[in-house]
Amino acid sequence: MDRLAAEHEVEVWPHAMPPPRTELLRLVGGCEGLLCLLTDRVDAELLDAAPRLRAVANMAVGVDNVDLAETRRRRIPVGNTPGVLTDSTADLTMALILAAARRLVEGREQVLGGGWRTWDPMGLLGLELRGAVLGIVGMGRIGRAVARRAAGFGMRVDWCGRDDPAGLDRLLAESDVVSLHCPLTAATRHLIGRDALARMKPGAILVNTARGPIVDQDALREALRAGRIGAAALDVTDPEPLPADDPLLAAPNLLVVPHIGSATHTARGRMADLAVDNLLAALAGRPMPHPV
Ligand code: DGY
Repeated sequence: MDRLAAEHEVEVWPHAMPPPRTELLRLVGGCEGLLCLLTDRVDAELLDAAPRLRAVANMAVGVDNVDLAETRRRRIPVGNTPGVLTDSTADLTMALILAAARRLVEGREQVLGGGWRTWDPMGLLGLELRGAVLGIVGMGRIGRAVARRAAGFGMRVDWCGRDDPAGLDRLLAESDVVSLHCPLTAATRHLIGRDALARMKPGAILVNTARGPIVDQDALREALRAGRIGAAALDVTDPEPLPADDPLLAAPNLLVVPHIGSATHTARGRMADLAVDNLLAALAGRPMPHPV
C-alpha cells in the first residue's frame, strides 16, 4: 500500500467481503490500474466500466477470474504472482494428503465426541504413504514441489499433463492418491467427473488444491457416498464458500478447508509485493515483471 501510495492516488475497498458487483463497476470508473483478488471477476462488463484502465494486477497465480481474451483484445496487460506460493500450496497439499490418508478428521471427531474408548488394533486404519502411488495432474511449479515432498515420504510419483487423456486414464487407474495441480480452463472444467472418478482405484484419495470447478462435485458426492473412492480433501470448491446446506458437505470421508493454499505470512506478503511490482511497472509504461 505504501509503495503504491508513494506514486499514485490509491482507493482501497475497505471491507473484508469483496465489493458487490455494482459497487466494483462504479469504483473502477476512474481507475487506471486495478489490483484485484481471485474473488473479483474482470470481464468485458468491468472493462467497459473502466475506460481508463491500463493495467490489471491479480494477487493470485490463477487467473481464471480474468477474461484474458478481452484484456488481450483491449491491450491491457495482466500480471499474476507465480512462484511465491508454490511452497505454501505444496505444503498444504501434503497436509491434505496426510489428513485424508490417516483419517485425522474422524480421529478428531472420535476424541471430541467421546467415541474414543480404547487403543484398538483395528481402529482408524489408513493408507501408509511409503510405497503408495501419488498421481499428479499438472506437473507445473506446484505439481513438482508436491512431487519432491511426496518423494520424501517414500511415495512413488507419477504425473500426467492436463491435456493428455490417455495419461490421465493410466494415472487414475494406478494411483492411491490423485492430486490436482492444473489451472482452470475450458478444457479442465469437470476434468474429474463421473467417468474419471469411476476409473480411480477403489478406496483412492482425491486432493484438490487447484480450482473447485475442475471437479464435478455432484459426481464426487456420489462417489464418496457409494464408497467408490476412499476420501477427498479439498482446498477449493465451486462455489466458494460452499453454502452450509450444500449436499457435498454431507458426504462421508470429506475434508474441506477454505482455500488456504497460499495462506502463510511469507506467501501472502510476497504475493502482495509481486502484484504491486506488476502494477507499478505497467502504470510507468514498463513491461510487467510477471505478465500472464
Ligand atoms: C492462487 O494464487 O491462484 C491461489 O489459489 C491463491 O491461494
